[in-house]
Amino acid sequence: MDTTHTKTPMPDSPLVKKNRTADIPAAAEAALRAPFNITADMREMDEDQFLFLQKLLTGKTGIRFRDRAHLSRKLGSRLRILKLETYAAYIKLIKNNPAEIPLAIEAITTNETFFFRDFIHLVALEKYLDKNIHTTNSFKIWSAASSSGEEVYSIAMTVHAWSAARRISPHTIKIIGSDIDRAVLKRATNGLYHHYQVERTPKDYKAFLLRYLKKNDEDYFSVKAHIKKMVCFKRFNLTQTLPFNQTLDVIFCRNVFLYFNQNLRNQIFTGMHRALRPGGLLIMGLCEPVPLDLPLGFKYMGNSMYMKTD
Ligand SMILES: C[S@@+](CC[C@H](N)C(=O)[O-])C[C@H]1O[C@@H](n2cnc3c(N)ncnc32)[C@H](O)[C@@H]1O
Repeated sequence: MDTTHTKTPMPDSPLVKKNRTADIPAAAEAALRAPFNITADMREMDEDQFLFLQKLLTGKTGIRFRDRAHLSRKLGSRLRILKLETYAAYIKLIKNNPAEIPLAIEAITTNETFFFRDFIHLVALEKYLDKNIHTTNSFKIWSAASSSGEEVYSIAMTVHAWSAARRISPHTIKIIGSDIDRAVLKRATNGLYHHYQVERTPKDYKAFLLRYLKKNDEDYFSVKAHIKKMVCFKRFNLTQTLPFNQTLDVIFCRNVFLYFNQNLRNQIFTGMHRALRPGGLLIMGLCEPVPLDLPLGFKYMGNSMYMKTD
């Protein structure tokens, strides 16, 4: 097994928290709307409230919570924004108002991402394209938990440069991004990024990234139109039946399995096997737990990559 890769910090580790720059503009906006209030952060849920909210939200998303404190920390922003003092009041609201559910889902997701994250996978994608582009005239790549879009645009930039070097039209390659969280999908579709997101790009890729970004003002960059045209974003929940049947060439499903239990991981892994064409490639996060029951028909290729063999 190839282990020559950069370690990605686990979600919720202190390192990830310090680096949660993807969310800075949104977090700053929320803080302006609801200034920090120490009593708000002290709101705790009791065991019954925890069990109710856990059942509801884990049931909808697959995302697990370690304990009450974990879920309270995640949902605290909703209570602050809604100016609710107790979880009893929040539960009453969510029961009477289903429109709150997607907002609760947005609060519990961890959207940490950055451009050219674990770029070893993008190098593998180029090699895969070299070998396989001629096997189909509609090559499809899916980023299955694409967060605010940095992963999808990194794929599109890689594909663009790869096809320019080979005089192939990049539009023969379709790139789809999806996520459960509507707020990050909106940011992905806008393709507007704070300069901090550019700063944290791995240094070997920063100049490459800047070729495809336009500076809007002091703080923001936008993805150039020809790269935006190569991608589309859709809402999709990975707990549901995957909407593809042997039609995908490459799936990126990175840094999301770690939030799910083993059953759901196995279910998604099996669904992804069905979604890929024979010979297709599934790329998972470098620190991702490997499914326990590796379905027959996948060959491990190293660096958390799996090839469908039949
Ligand atoms: C840590 S981000 C990973 C982003 C990107 N793949 C990367 O590796 O940089 C995890 C993403 O998974 C999404 N997610 C969590 N549960 C999901 C589900 N059930 N269906 C689809 N997306 C989900 C979250 O909204 C979040 O944006």
